Amino acid sequence: MARSLLSLPLLTLLFSASLAHAVNPEWKAVFQPLPEVAASASNPVTPQRVALGRALYNDTRLSVGNDISCNSCHRLDNFGVDNEPTSPGTKGQRGDRNSPSSFNAAIHIAQFWDGRAETVEKQALGPILNPKEMAMPSEKEVLKRLKGDPNTVAAFQAAFPGERDPVTYANVGNAIGAFERTLMTPSKLDRYLKGDDAALSDAEKKGARLFVETGCATCHNGIGIGGGMYQKLGLVKPYPTTDAGRFAVTKNESDKMVFKVPSLRNVEKTGPYFHDGSVKTLPEAVSTMAEYQLGKKLSPEQVTDIVVFLKALTAEPARGS
Ligand code: HEC
Ligand code: HEC
Repeated sequence: MARSLLSLPLLTLLFSASLAHAVNPEWKAVFQPLPEVAASASNPVTPQRVALGRALYNDTRLSVGNDISCNSCHRLDNFGVDNEPTSPGTKGQRGDRNSPSSFNAAIHIAQFWDGRAETVEKQALGPILNPKEMAMPSEKEVLKRLKGDPNTVAAFQAAFPGERDPVTYANVGNAIGAFERTLMTPSKLDRYLKGDDAALSDAEKKGARLFVETGCATCHNGIGIGGGMYQKLGLVKPYPTTDAGRFAVTKNESDKMVFKVPSLRNVEKTGPYFHDGSVKTLPEAVSTMAEYQLGKKLSPEQVTDIVVFLKALTAEPARGS
């Protein structure tokens, strides 16, 4: 029926019109849309586990002075960061590295700038005992505090049904990890990749094209627009840093100054930039990358165009966590 109503010229017209508005197949190969939840076979993301994880994420009892939580450095109301070059931990002490966002971290190849923790579940156990961060003296002390509160014990029982003694240190990590697995922030780019050509403006598409053509997407690609591989900082031109990066984890000479390629999701909001928080603005980060990673000098207009695309990656968690 429908077919007989459409003449051949009309069909051709419809077909070419739909091609003009088709989603760029090259970008679909380079970038992938985020899932709503980063599922895990070993740590099911159940509502009870997420609820406990959210509470622990905000719980200052996990710090020695009862004053610092994960949320102090990775603020849920601020794109998972604190916008500090390095973050003040217990007694205001600072580490050497910039706090990356907890948003979308669960989908990365591994956690930390040097990838020294495999999963968000394992990562979460580090800061609690880190003497410059939450500085708890021991796992035992953490569990003693949690077991002292019947409501917390009940929440662990609900989150880990069938376990005789669910209040374990590993389960602190499992609960926080399950919560972090819900902190996914699908953006305009994801709507575009799923077929809505109008989700990106012409200016954003121009920036995306330049981002891919310049070579940024050889490293910043996939679901996270980054977060999927390790690369040397200063690949083409040596970058001034004393941080040995992934070398500390692998002890391979070739891993000196190699870092996890950061995800660029929400990068508009997560400055200052780089592992040491030394770069203040996004345009500066973009032109520095072009120079040190690709040996290219971008014009101010090109930098602006790429920044317009990067801003299209800004979004709040889909679940409103
Ligand atoms: C005092 C500030 C501070 C506190 C408190 C803190 N973090 Fe972090 N977090 C950091 C810094 C700094 C890094 C990067 C360290 C590195 O790479 O060596 C980091 C890294 C991470 C990462 C890795 C992200 C990525 O892209 O690699 C995750 C996830 C994370 N933290 C979650 C948490 C959780 C969960 C807690 C609470 C249990 C927590 N953090 C407590 C400062 C903090
Ligand atoms: C060869 C791989 C590679 C290429 C190509 C590359 N980057 Fe990066 N990018 C990295 C690495 C590695 C880092 C982390 C640097 C660090 O640890 O200080 C990074 C960091 C960044 C940051 C800072 C993110 C943050 O959270 O601190 C931005 C922004 C960025 N890149 C954008 C770009 C743009 C735009 C291009 C293209 C002009 C580009 N990158 C090309 C590997 C690359």
